Amino acid sequence: MTAPTLEIHLSEDMMTEALRHDARVGLTADPKWLPPKWFYDARGSELFGQITTLPEYYPTRTERALLTAVAGEIAEAAAPEMLVELGSGSAEKTVLLLDAFVAHGGLDSYVPQDVSPSALEEAAAQINDRFPNVTVHGVVSDFTGTLHHLPRPKGRDGKRMIAFLGGTIGNMVPDERAEFLTGVREVLDPGEHLLLGAGLVVDPAVLVPAYDDAAGVTAEFNRNVLRVLNARLDADFEPEAFRHVAIWDPEQEWIEMRLEASRDMRVVVRGLDLTVDFAAGEQLRTEISAKFRIAGLEGELAHAGFAITRHWTDPDERFALVLATAK
Ligand code: SAH
Ligand code: TRP
Repeated sequence: MTAPTLEIHLSEDMMTEALRHDARVGLTADPKWLPPKWFYDARGSELFGQITTLPEYYPTRTERALLTAVAGEIAEAAAPEMLVELGSGSAEKTVLLLDAFVAHGGLDSYVPQDVSPSALEEAAAQINDRFPNVTVHGVVSDFTGTLHHLPRPKGRDGKRMIAFLGGTIGNMVPDERAEFLTGVREVLDPGEHLLLGAGLVVDPAVLVPAYDDAAGVTAEFNRNVLRVLNARLDADFEPEAFRHVAIWDPEQEWIEMRLEASRDMRVVVRGLDLTVDFAAGEQLRTEISAKFRIAGLEGELAHAGFAITRHWTDPDERFALVLATAK
């Protein structure tokens, strides 16, 4: 057993530089907005972990049940030598896939990738403990950029699978998704696989509480992005003065998270030398979580150069796993 290794393509300085850029663009735009990757500092990753156990947040539980049911079939169809997982977070559900791949034989390494070093270190250590014969190599990087830094399997004929679970694909708008999927296709060789976990369009009465829970954990998670700005860019946001808003957009079929100013506010972002005014009721857009239909999802994958091998859904059709093969 060897200790997990960690490869860092995104240093703290690079992250601050990227945040400076995103904050300047987003906070001076109309309407104001911020990209979602900034939720996930150590506290944000921990809050997301709490979200996944909330009674209202069905996606994690549903995807876990689905993986439990079909991991064997996924292994039959596409057991890889190397599993690369983008936005792996705690990698808690990935254990189900790794179990099936190990049982099937041939799995040599697991490569969790995430923008959050704290989540990655924890995940790598846990997987390493549990799968002593699997080499674990973590990668800190941004999956919205080029993916050419991802490692290749040792074996000459070894195949990779890239897993992208949790419905994180829904946190991109359609253009970003197209670019992302094309980028994933580009780094795969023909015959290698992508396993995509995506939330399906469900009744808003089920969906909206999943993003606006009674205990207020999601609200705290949403406000965390303001704490990240305070810490990294020396800003003076008062997170408690912003209200969490989650709205289902039936046209776009996505749920949009916003932070609404409860009163007129002037925020100083000292690190950017920027003053930002909020009017009472003004909303800052922080995240979308798009929900899909199978046909649409498969169309987007086909457009990016994938053949669809199989898909699986839970009995309530709330979540899908799609196995695609690079053409
Ligand atoms: N896959 C896990 C976590 C999903 S939450 C699950 O299914 O539960 C989304 C994860 O993606 C977080 O761990 C977050 O840190 C990571 N993430 C978000 N934006 C990212 C980006 N641009 N590059 C890399 N990781 C990102
Ligand atoms: N990938 C998760 C999702 O779309 C992220 C998420 C869950 C999230 N709850 C959130 C992001 C609340 C922002 C706010 O389901």
